[in-house]
Amino acid sequence: MTLSLARVAETDVPIPLFDLKRQQSRLRHDIDRRIARVLDHGQYVLGPEVGELEGRLASFAGVRHAIGVSSGRDALIMALMALGVGPGDAVFVPAFTFSATAAVVIAVGATPVFVDVDAATYTMDPARLCDAVAAARARGLAPRAVMPVDLFGRPTNYAALAAAAAQHGLAVVADAAQSFGAWQDGRRVGALAPITCVSFYPTKPLGAFGDGGAVLTDDDDLAAAVRQIRTHGRQGDGDEAMRIGMTGRLDTIQAAILLSKLSVFKAELNRRAEIAALYSARLAGVCTLPPADDAARSAWALYTVRIPARDRVRAALAERQVGTGLFYRVPLHRHPAFAHLLSGEEHLPVAEALADEVLSLPMGPDLTDEEVHTVADAVVDTL
Ligand SMILES: Cc1ncc(COP(=O)(O)O)c(C=O)c1O
Repeated sequence: MTLSLARVAETDVPIPLFDLKRQQSRLRHDIDRRIARVLDHGQYVLGPEVGELEGRLASFAGVRHAIGVSSGRDALIMALMALGVGPGDAVFVPAFTFSATAAVVIAVGATPVFVDVDAATYTMDPARLCDAVAAARARGLAPRAVMPVDLFGRPTNYAALAAAAAQHGLAVVADAAQSFGAWQDGRRVGALAPITCVSFYPTKPLGAFGDGGAVLTDDDDLAAAVRQIRTHGRQGDGDEAMRIGMTGRLDTIQAAILLSKLSVFKAELNRRAEIAALYSARLAGVCTLPPADDAARSAWALYTVRIPARDRVRAALAERQVGTGLFYRVPLHRHPAFAHLLSGEEHLPVAEALADEVLSLPMGPDLTDEEVHTVADAVVDTL
């Protein structure tokens, strides 16, 4: 869901896809105060705000460890490095997600294997995992991990996925770039998988004013490994590299901004859910609505509908100055960067159909009811 910087700043249409300006002005005073404090103490790298944020993220999610890192992508890379995933290994990823989900697997030298998604939830279909494991084995790869994606903020069916993963001895690494704040079966994202990776990209439900991310886990050893990896493989202030690492820390200034945003996050999540309910009430029977059930509550990073006439509706909304997004127009197996990884036997019909039909409507805690009605009415009028 990463957008170019130009797109992030695109708030000049009356109802943009994301409106970061309103939230900023709501929180501006507190954020200015927190940034000033960082400038005063001068600990720009791993300053006290990073530790404070990590504590708050861990208790919010209900896990023992949260490690602030440089981005969602780097969180995934560090999680895979901590697990020792590397060349010859297969990592199973959904075919319908942002390209970073597959790119991080390649970055650690392993091979992403694409698994189709479930038409009802848009998340990895656990029933498809067994076939993908057999196909990977046939290609001489060692099945090592599965990386489900909580698409648009809705948690994957973790119980079913964990059962399928256990059958094949796969580690589960949650790509929760879009879903921090969501919950399932009474547990929050972060506590739903052994290791969970979150993004704080500005347009995410909990967004910084730049890049950032976190790794969440209950596993002391994995947490210690990620802490080493994010600072060049060093243990604490030691000089020796204990393992191969990277520059993977969350900036102190971003942590300060995130502390401010976290203080209103629960209220914002509730407002996002209200907006989703308003959209769904207006659009029921008009298009295929995003999944909603009692077992899982989305963080509503995006409100995404399925419409066969998607391009026509999108053009009509653009004419009415309503911003929309196409997440994702291209399934992973159709990206040129991943073409060399294909076996030629990929059968991923749900991902392909979704790519042709999904349309994301404006979403964010500062949308008014009236704006939601304007957008929904514009969709209804076009169909
Ligand atoms: C599903 C998914 N995975 C990974 C990422 C990468 O996160 P970041 O942009 O923070 O590196 C994103 C971000 O857009 C994402 O949507």
